[in-house]
Amino acid sequence: MDLGMSLQELVRVHEVLARDFANAGRASTSIKETLKHLGVNPVTVRRVAIASYEAEMNIVMYANRGVMTLKVSPDSITLEVQDEGPGIPNIPLAMQEGYSTATPEMREMGFGAGMGLPNIQRNADVFEITSEVGRGTRLFIQVNHGS
Ligand SMILES: Nc1ncnc2c1ncn2[C@@H]1O[C@H](COP(=O)(O)OP(=O)(O)OP(=O)(O)O)[C@@H](O)[C@H]1O
Ligand SMILES: [Mg+2]
Repeated sequence: MDLGMSLQELVRVHEVLARDFANAGRASTSIKETLKHLGVNPVTVRRVAIASYEAEMNIVMYANRGVMTLKVSPDSITLEVQDEGPGIPNIPLAMQEGYSTATPEMREMGFGAGMGLPNIQRNADVFEITSEVGRGTRLFIQVNHGS
């Protein structure tokens, strides 16, 4: 797909702060705007937007801080999400639909369905999750350009 880029891929880095509900969603909104501006097709934009929003909210709710790095190349779009936080002790469990450790306060705000990570996986062509308890969690999300 022609995104008007020649040699260099586009890279955008967004920092995300935990518990900062006032600014929550800004990184994923900005990522969505960047992709729209580049002329990425709407279906692909939507897939990345869903994945980035879910990843961002997980940092806000469960981690201490994180960085989301968007890379757009003519081949694909990748999102690397790295946080400093408690990590995930049981990844297969966390990946299960409906599993959530969200607090009552988070649930009142509409979070905690336990659908975020499964949704990221569903919208990604490549999805990798690694975590170190006491250190943090890293997601690699790749979405290929559709037509
Ligand atoms: N970055 C993270 N750091 C630590 N734990 C996490 C992180 N992301 C997810 N988790 C754990 O995995 C569980 C499942 O995450 P998932 O995003 O699927 O659901 P949720 O955030 O609980 O609810 P929803 O995303 O539907 O609002 C979380 O409840 C939490 O225990
Ligand atoms: Mg979530």
